[in-house]
Amino acid sequence: MKILVTGGLGYIGSHVTVLLLESGVEVVSIDNIDNSHIEVLDGIKAITGKKPVFELLDLKDKDKIQDLFKKHTDIDGVIHFAAYKAVGESVENPLKYYKNNIGGLLNLLESICELSIPLIFSSSCTVYGQSSKLPIKENTPLKPSSSPYGYTKQIGEQIIEDSCKAHLGFKAILLRYFNPIGAHPSSKIGEYPKGTPQNLVPFLTQTAIGKRPLLKVFGSNYNTPDGTCIRDYIHVMDLAQAHIDSIYYLISSSQKLTCEIFNVGTGQGVSVLEVIKEFENTTSKSVPYKLSDPRKGDTVAAYADVKKINNQLGWKAKFSLKEALQSAWNWEKELDKKS
Ligand code: WQD
Repeated sequence: MKILVTGGLGYIGSHVTVLLLESGVEVVSIDNIDNSHIEVLDGIKAITGKKPVFELLDLKDKDKIQDLFKKHTDIDGVIHFAAYKAVGESVENPLKYYKNNIGGLLNLLESICELSIPLIFSSSCTVYGQSSKLPIKENTPLKPSSSPYGYTKQIGEQIIEDSCKAHLGFKAILLRYFNPIGAHPSSKIGEYPKGTPQNLVPFLTQTAIGKRPLLKVFGSNYNTPDGTCIRDYIHVMDLAQAHIDSIYYLISSSQKLTCEIFNVGTGQGVSVLEVIKEFENTTSKSVPYKLSDPRKGDTVAAYADVKKINNQLGWKAKFSLKEALQSAWNWEKELDKKS
């Protein structure tokens, strides 16, 4: 089997590439390294002993995408990660997000719909907005997004669903990630944000190692047990495995509908303060933090109902929050050695 991974040098893309290579799948990886690092290829090789076929390529370049499918005529499936993902940045620079995330998806779809190459789309729980019911189910009505980033995921899902209806033979799975954290157990790949991390766990580990003086806890008076926001933090290795199970389900034609949606999470909600406490208990490293103002656009609580993916794909998260935080800390120490 040969799989094209877009954004293959990114956080989730690189972990999925490792599992694909380990399961004997041939991987073509494309990335514009706008928000990733070429040396991630060395990490993938160090873990698997193999490298994907890598093409430096931007999905916004339509001709290059068409040439890619002329060159690789035996692609059995596509896993599409390539997108910008910083909620705050998308509010400041919406056109950058719509052009990249939607423009790139449209160029990809124009190639794969006609060829009936099945697609897995990296979506996000952010499409739900602040759900009134928890845990969140796939049929929970979507709310207007609080950011252009969230809209690119909502619009992206709609474009793919409409394409599946219009193109007989074209199938897709939309994976709605909750909060991916942690790193490969080897610490040879992990979350590698450029600049100041937007997400909690990389900011937390950079604070713990001394790169940052203080972690700000955004909001401490929410209507939650300890006043801080609740999220469903899933180990990136569990999330990566969900892509492997999905691609086999998609290609083996077990999939009945042409477009299926799955939440991918642990099903457990954890607060920001609980994450900090669990990290400190796990690593014996203290994390200096300050209760601060809420962050614009944050939802109060979000965690997944994962019965659908459990039942239909037989997938279930295996790693604990403790293991995910330990792996994030090990990776931060590895990065520190390199700097
Ligand atoms: C988690 C919690 C913050 C930083 C977003 C996207 C989602 C996915 C993951 C791409 C929130 C709090 C954070 C900090 C803090 N993106 N926090 N101090 O916003 O739930 O999800 O990133 O795949 O699609 O929506 O993740 O890690 O930014 O925040 O207190 O320095 O941590 O307020 O409650 P989020 P996050």
